[in-house]
Amino acid sequence: MIPVRPFIYLGKNAPLACGEIPLDALAKKYGTPLYVYSAEHLLYRLRLFTEAFCEQPHLICYAVKANPSLAILRLLDRQGAGFDIVSGGELERIVTVNKSAAARVVFSGVGKTAPEIDLALRCGILLFNVESEGELELLAERASKLRKNAPIALRVNPDVFAETHPYISTGLREHKFGIDIRRARAVYRNAAGYKWIEPAGVSVHIGSQIRSVEPFGAAAGRVADLVTQLRKDGLSIKYLDAGGGLGIEYHAAQPFKPEEKVLQYAAALIQAIRKLDDITLLLEPGRFLVAQAGALLTRVLYVKKNGEKTFIIADAGMNDLIRPALYQAHHEIVPVSPRKGRKITADIVGPVCETGDFFARDRELPPVRPGDLLAILDAGAYGHALASNYNSRPRPTEVLVQGKRARLIRRRETTADMLATESM
Ligand code: LLP
Repeated sequence: MIPVRPFIYLGKNAPLACGEIPLDALAKKYGTPLYVYSAEHLLYRLRLFTEAFCEQPHLICYAVKANPSLAILRLLDRQGAGFDIVSGGELERIVTVNKSAAARVVFSGVGKTAPEIDLALRCGILLFNVESEGELELLAERASKLRKNAPIALRVNPDVFAETHPYISTGLREHKFGIDIRRARAVYRNAAGYKWIEPAGVSVHIGSQIRSVEPFGAAAGRVADLVTQLRKDGLSIKYLDAGGGLGIEYHAAQPFKPEEKVLQYAAALIQAIRKLDDITLLLEPGRFLVAQAGALLTRVLYVKKNGEKTFIIADAGMNDLIRPALYQAHHEIVPVSPRKGRKITADIVGPVCETGDFFARDRELPPVRPGDLLAILDAGAYGHALASNYNSRPRPTEVLVQGKRARLIRRRETTADMLATESM
């Protein structure tokens, strides 16, 4: 068992480190804002998943959107992981890493375009998760044109409620995702009529950052019933794609045991599908694998008082990590080299010209001075992935720590990079 996070103080008065590598040294070498990831931690989380599902034929299809960096994808590919993609761009990333990994790709998303579909057909992906009847029609047309077989699952909407932020909840009928489970049989019947379409699975995804395992079990149970019906209808359904969404605890004060959580999750899913023979379970975890493997390092530019309030102005902003601004998400923030003295209460904010540009409000932390380094924890998922050039700020550098080595996996963007696509 390893700690919930790979970022640990190496000793009394020693700086925070990733594995054995002190973060102040990394910040000095690569500059800030800087994302740092632990390869060991990511692989440990993958192993937890693999072990939890060992009794069940399965394939873990990492949700690329959580962190699409090539080095991360390569680590996972080398373990034989599959991938859940939502765009042609993500597929290009996978085949850049390993052409043959396309055979382990499932393609989700409500708005697949014809060129994206063509690319996926040519690459020979494992499964298209079809989200509408319109998409099914387009896929059938493209598959027949290219004379390529298209293995499909319908992504059904199971109408299961799961407690999470409303922006990342997807399993209710009022959401844009999937096909109403009550209509699914009819749509499968229609799908089976197309020459180049091969109904091979059923998929579901109820949302993200869901910490209770019951909704996953409930959704998988409904999908398992549908699989039974479809098999009676004569379809050869091999895959049940249970989606992603298993949450983590961002609050350090909340107890969190990833080892137990993933076992509970596996038990709920396996129990829900126990009646099905010969089924391969597909899983699409993103956050659970990569969030806690990463931190965002930022240097304090100024400490400023406005009346009663103290603001710590950091060199990272909402363009580098948007989760607090977008989802009111909590991230633990710790000084890399904590100072002694009375704790302060402050807002930790970025340089972007928006009041929403904050990482934490009224947060208690040790005294901080300009030049100090802060680590924003649990930033490995949906951190760099959602970074933008807002305020014409280059997107941050990424470093991967593996054993005693730290490797630059994405250099900092330059102004030339940012201007390259423009003309006057
Ligand atoms: N599969 C599908 C079809 C998805 O839409 C998603 C996430 C996943 C798998 C992976 O979910 P995960 O295991 O990572 O929870 N930006 C938000 C999260 C958006 C999730 C979108 N879909 C955040 O920062 O919290």
